[in-house]
This record gives sequence, C-alpha cells and structure tokens, in this order.
Amino acid sequence: MPTEMRGHVVARALYDELRQVLAGLSYVPALRVVRLGNDPASVSYTRLKDKRARELGMDSKVIALPEETSEAELLGLIAELNEDDGVDGILVQLPLPAHVDEGRVIEAISPAKDVDGFHPYNVGRLWAGQETLEPCTPAGIIRILDHYGVDLEGREAVIVGRSNIVGKPLASLLLRRNATVTVAHSRTRDLAEVTRRAEVLVAAVGRPRFITPEMVREGAVLIDVGISRVGEDLVGDIDPAAHGKSSAYTPVPGGVGPMTVAMLLANTVKAARHRRR
Ligand code: GUN
Repeated sequence: MPTEMRGHVVARALYDELRQVLAGLSYVPALRVVRLGNDPASVSYTRLKDKRARELGMDSKVIALPEETSEAELLGLIAELNEDDGVDGILVQLPLPAHVDEGRVIEAISPAKDVDGFHPYNVGRLWAGQETLEPCTPAGIIRILDHYGVDLEGREAVIVGRSNIVGKPLASLLLRRNATVTVAHSRTRDLAEVTRRAEVLVAAVGRPRFITPEMVREGAVLIDVGISRVGEDLVGDIDPAAHGKSSAYTPVPGGVGPMTVAMLLANTVKAARHRRR
C-alpha cells in the first residue's frame, strides 16, 4: 500500500514549532496580505493566510483593494509597508489584474519582507545556494518529503510545470538535495517518456488529472500541487488512479496546500527574526 503523505499533519507539526518560537519573542511578527479585486480563489487564499496567522497570535491584516487600483497606487502602498518598521512580511496575492505589471510589483517589495520569496534578489540567493526566504509551496514540498523520509540523494526527480511560484524554485531546492532534476513543461516532447523516468514526480500544471497512470513509474513518489474545481470536487493534477502505482503520494485536498500557508507563516517569523535581531 502506498503511503498517503498528509500535508495537513506536517503543517500541524510546523505550527507547533512556530508557536514555541513565537512564545520566545519579545515582539509580535506582522504580516500584510495585499489583494486586488475579488477573484474567488484569491479571496479564499488570502482569508486563509490571514486566519492561520491570527490563530498563531500574529498581527495580520488583509489589505483588499479594488480591481481597478492603479499600478502606481499599489506601488505606493508597498513603499509604505516597506518603510513601516512594524511590518515584517508583505505578500501580494497573484495573479494581479492585467493592467498591473507583476514583475514590477514583486521587485518593489523589500527583499527582507518578501515572504513569498519571489523578489529577484531572493531568487538569485536561492539559486546561489544562499540562505534566503524560500518560496512557500516548494519549501513546503521539501518539508513533506523530509517528514516522510523520502531520500532525494541521487534520485531522478521530474517536475511538470515551470512556474516562478513552484516549478523553477522547486528545481533549485531539489538540486540542493542532490536530486537529478528535470523540469518538463507544455512544450516537452514525449512527456510520458520523461515522467516515467521519475522516482519523484511533481505535477504543478493546474490541469485536472493531467498525469495518468501510464505516465508514472512503478514505486514513484507523487507530489500533486494542482487543485482545480471540477463540479463539486477539488481535483489534483494527478489522476488518483495513478496512486496505486506509487510508493507514496500527496492527496488533494490535504496534501501540498496546507503546507503553503504554514511555510508562509514560517517565512514571516524568519523575516521578523532576521530584521529585528
Ligand atoms: N498565487 C498562487 N500561489 C501564490 C503564492 O504562493 N503567493 C502569492 N503571492 N500568490 C499566489
């Protein structure tokens, strides 16, 4: 029987750790979550981040701005948050409306407060193997693999999806663990041949049940980053029919998702300790 790697269990352990760290601090770390517009998924993610931060006793606020907010206004808000000594972490929920340049917004966030780990300075440090704020979903995946004792040394890891949020930073973290890493994407030729090489297969494409059983190597470890709504159901990027071929897999929901929020709060604490030391 394959092992179900339950991210919510790993997240709970991380929250316990964070509670202990927070109890020893002489200040309360502060997180600001900025959202433009009311895209239902973004509303739900930003609410959850805020709720979990408050549950830990952190100072958290969602700053919800209208969809029409100009780039200049948003950059003005970020400048204020950068300068506010009481703010430790700034997160701007993506995607942003088309009239706002995402790259410019990310670059405006102070790298020391960039709890998403998306600023080019932090991306550079990540790829250089230096200590930094690591992107939350990839860092959460590594934590799940560690928790369940998945050995990465010398293993064939294939990531399907090359986003700046998941695929690319995860490649860097897996390389650091001495995995042999392949990043496949929508233009990859004969994708199934590539994914069948994977001892660790990560699906981060946002297409429901995209990875079918034929694409999976016997005994592979499967990490499912996707979460799509199909009718009433939440569905991952990996067809659950493939779980039977695996040695371990993350379920959807309750797999990678809970770790993303937990790592965000870990990053907020890390940013606070680094900045206020
Ligand atoms: N949208 C989807 N995932 C993320 C994330 O990790 N951070 C932010 N800011 N936006 C997202």
